Amino acid sequence: MSIEQLEETAHAMVAPGKGIIAIDESTTTIGKRFAAVGVDSTEENRRAYREMLLTTPKLGEHISGAILYDETLRQKTKAGVSFVEVMKKAGVIPGIKVDKGTQPLAGFPGEVITEGLDGLRDRLKEYYALGARFAKWRAVISIGEDTPSGTCIESNSHALARYAALCQEQGLVPMVEPEVLMDGEHDIEVCYDVTEVVLRSLFGALYEHNVMLEGTILKASMVLPGKDCPEQASVEEVAAATVRCLKAAVPASLPGIVFLSGGQSDAAATAHLNAMNQMGAHPWPLSFSYGRAMQSAALKLWAKDPVGKLGEAQTTVAARARDNGLAARGQWKG
Ligand code: 13P
Repeated sequence: MSIEQLEETAHAMVAPGKGIIAIDESTTTIGKRFAAVGVDSTEENRRAYREMLLTTPKLGEHISGAILYDETLRQKTKAGVSFVEVMKKAGVIPGIKVDKGTQPLAGFPGEVITEGLDGLRDRLKEYYALGARFAKWRAVISIGEDTPSGTCIESNSHALARYAALCQEQGLVPMVEPEVLMDGEHDIEVCYDVTEVVLRSLFGALYEHNVMLEGTILKASMVLPGKDCPEQASVEEVAAATVRCLKAAVPASLPGIVFLSGGQSDAAATAHLNAMNQMGAHPWPLSFSYGRAMQSAALKLWAKDPVGKLGEAQTTVAARARDNGLAARGQWKG
């Protein structure tokens, strides 16, 4: 696999005014999202729901790529066309979540480590053959009284670096995601400090593992006060803190940074991205890789009537893609 190809894919993922739709919920997670809107999590319902998302007319206008789950990468539309084909026709790069979720980190109560390295090389080979060109791995860091520990941060960075190196070996762009959770009462300064330490550790590990940053994308969490912090921050404060933190810890050679929404409202996720891009030119394009903030409105509509509301649900997907695409250019008007 050539370095140029990895770079080309990475740049295409963050092309101007475009971002990623994350539809890579594991079977457990999509089960929870479906349960909240009264839908049974059968394989057919999951397939039909993902078909609705992926066949949104003109999806590729503001969406550069979609992250799928293992099951989804192998599925087809009702008419028998593989989802990968549908995506390629729409100009949407197929991506795949390759971690196997989190497990408690032994010896560190309340902290988790992401698993999935064993056998990863062979899985990546298969995913490439199925059409995937980038792969995501999510590490989860939570902020508490005595957490995160240095051990939790370093263990997760090490796993991210090993996965990223394997991805590049197999021709897939790694989308490295160290998510600092919004849960808690901590203020924005604490989130800033933790995020900076986590990012410095991650880029140190990527360097130690010979990962080529030019062929890597960072999926970052924004710097926000905890959900239960009495002092919430303005859009401008979040944007300024996030950009400052990224500039302090992320090398300029990275082709792009995309954000997760992490439980923010649709409007907040878009407003924060827009404000960051209005702050002027940054060393990297800043765009989106939202799951909930791309899908939640569409899921509610689709759940009411998967056939009758299909068009309306797709209209909301297109609208969320357009708004976030404008925010990626700093041109969203609210
Ligand atoms: P959210 O935008 O819903 O946080 O999901 C993005 C994602 O892929 C988390 O891993």
